[in-house]
Amino acid sequence: MAYDEEIKIRSYNWQIDQLRIEDLERRCTVGLFESGSFLYTDTMGDPICRIRNCPMYNMLVAEADNEIVGVIQGTIKTVTLPSTAKDKANVGYILGLRVSPLRRRKNIGSSLVLKMEQWFITNNVDFAYMATEKDNKPSVKLFTCKLGYVPFRRPTILVDPVARHKLRISSKVEIAKLKIEQAEYLYRRFVVPTAEFFSNDMDKILRNKLSLGTWVAYPSGESWNTDLGSNAQLPSNWAMLSVWNSVDVFKLRVSIVSMPRLLCAKSSKFINKLFPCLKVPIIPDFFQPFGFYFTYGMHCEGERSDLLMRSLCRFVHNLATQREDCKVIVTEVGECDKLRALIPHSRLLSCPEDLWCIKALKVEEKHTLLACIRAPPPKSLFVDPREV
Ligand SMILES: CC(C)(COP(=O)(O)OP(=O)(O)OC[C@H]1O[C@@H](n2cnc3c(N)ncnc32)[C@H](O)[C@@H]1OP(=O)(O)O)[C@@H](O)C(=O)NCCC(=O)NCCS
Repeated sequence: MAYDEEIKIRSYNWQIDQLRIEDLERRCTVGLFESGSFLYTDTMGDPICRIRNCPMYNMLVAEADNEIVGVIQGTIKTVTLPSTAKDKANVGYILGLRVSPLRRRKNIGSSLVLKMEQWFITNNVDFAYMATEKDNKPSVKLFTCKLGYVPFRRPTILVDPVARHKLRISSKVEIAKLKIEQAEYLYRRFVVPTAEFFSNDMDKILRNKLSLGTWVAYPSGESWNTDLGSNAQLPSNWAMLSVWNSVDVFKLRVSIVSMPRLLCAKSSKFINKLFPCLKVPIIPDFFQPFGFYFTYGMHCEGERSDLLMRSLCRFVHNLATQREDCKVIVTEVGECDKLRALIPHSRLLSCPEDLWCIKALKVEEKHTLLACIRAPPPKSLFVDPREV
């Protein structure tokens, strides 16, 4: 459909755009559950908060008649991409694309994406990629049918509600917080060789004020060598994860949930109040703004590390109980990641198939992209907490 109004695409300007973008975000719903419920993001006065911690970021707005009719965000970084010749690539990530409901199907969404791609190209980006729910038809069709993106990976988003009580951690497990240098060492030695999309600037992620820390779990009775060097002896079984404080970045809120689910949420809360000793995990009140902790960089070594990873997840849960407004713990794992079975999650709240789509922005990378798509999915996928 042709669009007869003039659309101007320009960079975001906090002073004139902040309130208008928040208003647009409120009017743009992103589906969450199958049955008529929607997820809203409250950026708490900073519409650029989701990308502010990335090494390079950009936000563009589409304006018509002095009204903001669309918005898009993008980030650039270097990541591992094992199926490419260099094993590394500069990638541009597209997120937060929203078009005002009354202005849809008028090429505003595609124009915003193309403008963001131009910014990527100017900054030497090899590949652009984006993530969407696989059932978001407008988004999937826009990227794949109109803009030449190819479905690439199908990770799972796992969501675990935080109960009010702490969970018991096995006495057979020891948990220790790592220094940043130790965490970075373990990431470079154990995660980089197997993970796709591992960020080159991991040290910056770990040093960010939103990074709550990295913890390891190992069998009780064994010791953890804190002086990690190339010959460092580690226990034969151990597990590791890092935690990111998304609670202080933005809040989420669910609206218009179907009656059976509403009743389910209310009744399990009721049960919890009446029978706290039953320890029934509540489904939190998602109708009020809530935040989450994001766990990332999960890694296990050794054949008997399942209990260790489960214990770490319980540890993160207990950490989250200390924040009233942290209602869920979120993580994202690759489609072939064996850890998926160990991470506690609610099937009701999780998204079993997120869809990542990718596009080569340089002619010489087109054949590389084919190799990436044909290659079996990697053992693990690194999801950058700064872009959640
Ligand atoms: C997805 C979204 C950004 C599309 O914006 P838009 O301005 O309507 O998109 P465009 O007009 O540029 O559409 C381009 C193409 O996308 C596809 N498309 C867009 N909306 C569609 C729909 N509702 N159904 C089917 N295909 C659709 C079509 O192929 C369309 O081309 P056509 O109109 O020539 O058939 C918009 O629907 C939106 O803001 N949705 C809510 C937020 C969201 O889901 N964002 C994406 C998160 S990744």
